[in-house]
Amino acid sequence: MSEPAQAGQLPRILVAGGAGFIGTHTLVSLVQNGYRPLVLDNFSNSSPAALDRVRQITGAEVEAVRGDIRDGNALDQLFQRCADEGAPIECVLHLAALKAVGESSTKPLEYYDNNVTGTLRLLEAMLRAGVMRLVFSSSATVYGEPESLPFQERHRIAPTNPYGHTKAMVEQILRDFCAAQPRFVAVCLRYFNPIGAHESGLIGEDPRGEPNNLFPYIMRTAIGKAPFLRVFGNDYQTPDGTGVRDYLHVSDLADGHSKAIDFALAGNEGANFSAFNLGTGRGTSVLELVSAFERESGVRVPYQVTARRPGDIGEAWADPSLANQVLGWTAGRSVDQMCRDGWNWQKNNPDGYPE
Ligand code: NAD
Ligand code: UFG
Repeated sequence: MSEPAQAGQLPRILVAGGAGFIGTHTLVSLVQNGYRPLVLDNFSNSSPAALDRVRQITGAEVEAVRGDIRDGNALDQLFQRCADEGAPIECVLHLAALKAVGESSTKPLEYYDNNVTGTLRLLEAMLRAGVMRLVFSSSATVYGEPESLPFQERHRIAPTNPYGHTKAMVEQILRDFCAAQPRFVAVCLRYFNPIGAHESGLIGEDPRGEPNNLFPYIMRTAIGKAPFLRVFGNDYQTPDGTGVRDYLHVSDLADGHSKAIDFALAGNEGANFSAFNLGTGRGTSVLELVSAFERESGVRVPYQVTARRPGDIGEAWADPSLANQVLGWTAGRSVDQMCRDGWNWQKNNPDGYPE
């Protein structure tokens, strides 16, 4: 195992996929919580400009390397360089993935290659370098159809699309790897629905092309780039018939990563694989989210109800009590704040990050 950082040095964390939506917010949290992040990103779904904004918010240098998690040689060199600098990587935060559910059904090989093979290459390089702590971005999508709600971590794992399968496979790989390597610690974070943006309005979600998810589509409609929002079904068994999800503020989610790294670095001998739901424990319907957004932004969001989206479930929300108890993490920000902060980002950056 690599030597830990010397006294007085901030623990260095490799953040794979750190230039993306969740990664940039997580970098802010890491810096604020006394970590020294180093980003590795191939920028396949993000922009280096996002990292400049993180530097602006934090006042920290925030090192970054362009590279791919599937490139074992590049990973070896990166881990070695950090060790040579006397500041070895102490933990890897692995957010690097392709994430569009629909696209994963039309391009499954790309998803398995990027998300599963990529993780294998990363784990092999970590083992070679003696880096024995990993926090992995999993997803609530690993649960599939709810047998009961709220989802608890012990719920059966039964994803319903290739993207979800990649997350479930990686969790299984990590479980098996932890059993074989008792000194390796893996923490899987099962995110529910992160929305909003950093309160500064400097960083936020910047989808390429047509957004797939509800909140970015609401914002796209609000700035006039889409004529109306399509509400996918109003005949679910929910109070107003529209789909219910557990939306959490992306800055709360980001803080969950800092807590998970604290936990991973503490060792947790004997329980070296763990998985936690990160959500608020509260459900919000599509129409409730639209209303909250209209109230907070002062902008009308026209919508039309259309057919259900294939593969959607009616309701999903988390039981976040395990993360509350074990990690000491709670998602405290309200849906109203998610809408305010999301809109602040969108109206200040109608075209996303500069090229
Ligand atoms: P994102 O696309 O904004 O960020 C992912 C980042 O990883 C991007 O910067 C991309 O360029 C990079 N990347 C992808 N493949 C890579 C590779 N092979 N090598 C190096 N870099 C690579 O997505 P996000 O919303 O920030 O999601 C981050 C993580 O959280 C992903 O693993 C995603 O599956 C997971 N997740 C996201 C959500 C959500 O609603 N956003 C929900 C559950 C889980
Ligand atoms: N919806 C609409 N119109 C849209 C988009 C979505 O009505 O234009 C509805 C959906 O039918 C659903 C709700 O809004 O009821 C939320 O949909 P999203 O696409 O925003 O989120 P999902 O819960 O379907 O899926 C997202 C990610 C998954 C992830 C999951 C849990 O896309 O990758 O959250 O974290 F696994």
